[in-house]
Amino acid sequence: MTERPKILVVYYSQTGQLKRIVDTVLGPLQDKATIVYEELKPVQPFVFPWKKQVFYDTMPETVLGRPRAIAPLKVNPDEHFDLVILAYQPWFLSPSQPTAAFLQSESAARLLKGKPVITLMGCRNMWLNAQERVKEYLQRAGAHLVGNIVLVDKSPNLVALITVLRWQFKGKKEATVLLPPAGVQEKDIQESVRFAAPIAKVLQDRQWDALQPQLIELGAVDLLPNLILLEDRGIRAFRYWSKFISAKGGPGAPERQGRVSMYRGLLLIGIFVLSPLAKITSVLKLALNKRKLLEEVKYYKGIHLR
Ligand SMILES: Cc1cc2nc3c(=O)[nH]c(=O)nc-3n(C[C@H](O)[C@H](O)[C@H](O)COP(=O)(O)O)c2cc1C
Repeated sequence: MTERPKILVVYYSQTGQLKRIVDTVLGPLQDKATIVYEELKPVQPFVFPWKKQVFYDTMPETVLGRPRAIAPLKVNPDEHFDLVILAYQPWFLSPSQPTAAFLQSESAARLLKGKPVITLMGCRNMWLNAQERVKEYLQRAGAHLVGNIVLVDKSPNLVALITVLRWQFKGKKEATVLLPPAGVQEKDIQESVRFAAPIAKVLQDRQWDALQPQLIELGAVDLLPNLILLEDRGIRAFRYWSKFISAKGGPGAPERQGRVSMYRGLLLIGIFVLSPLAKITSVLKLALNKRKLLEEVKYYKGIHLR
């Protein structure tokens, strides 16, 4: 009898949403593979629901890739795994701090070297830049990104923004009279079980290159062109503000709170103005330079790093 393949799942999930996605996708694999779970635990936890100022104050170090430390991993970094699943979420268009702390660690370098990796995301809808950063980390570790699955909140962008902020600041995920529930739609979580079959197959035949096209076929990555433009503008602004704020001190430093408040005000105005503008620009760009924007969509649906 051949040995069961071994999967390592590395994840962080503050509200449990991403862990539910992980459990749904991997459900059918439970009796086909040995699955080891490694939950990333920040030494000083990120408290949920968030205090508003703390939430915004978390942006600079997230964007600059200077994360709060995580506790040592339970798994032996020299243990062999046939596949690593990195389940993570974007924070401020960047990998969440616990994810970045893991990817920067010596243990990750040892665990990931030469390994096939599938990234699995549960987020609002802005994940492109975070995934580019993760692709870079994986490349540096000598890992092979073989698949990417992204579950997003499919509500209109501004609706998803309002509901996610209510969720993060008040802990209220449920629908109101006017608003849908926050986060990834329940139906989409339940239907993510469909990704198990191609993962099971690739664990058997090891045809890693065949995986992402199959996942795409199953709708693993849906992507609206206007979000490419919005993210591009957003990350440029975040980079500027990260440097400006962190020049006054580290996370929580009283000296930088004035700057955090300034960016906090401008961010919300920026988003509510930029989001409709990006939509109009993308319609224009699609009309004028359709090929280029569609190439961008194709690139972001893929797993290669340019
Ligand atoms: C500090 C913070 C920043 C976030 N920034 C983004 C973002 O840039 N893009 C996005 O799509 N979702 C963003 N989200 C939503 C998360 O990606 C995620 O969907 C949500 O926090 C639930 O994840 P959980 O599994 O950790 O509970 C953010 C959440 C937090 C807490």
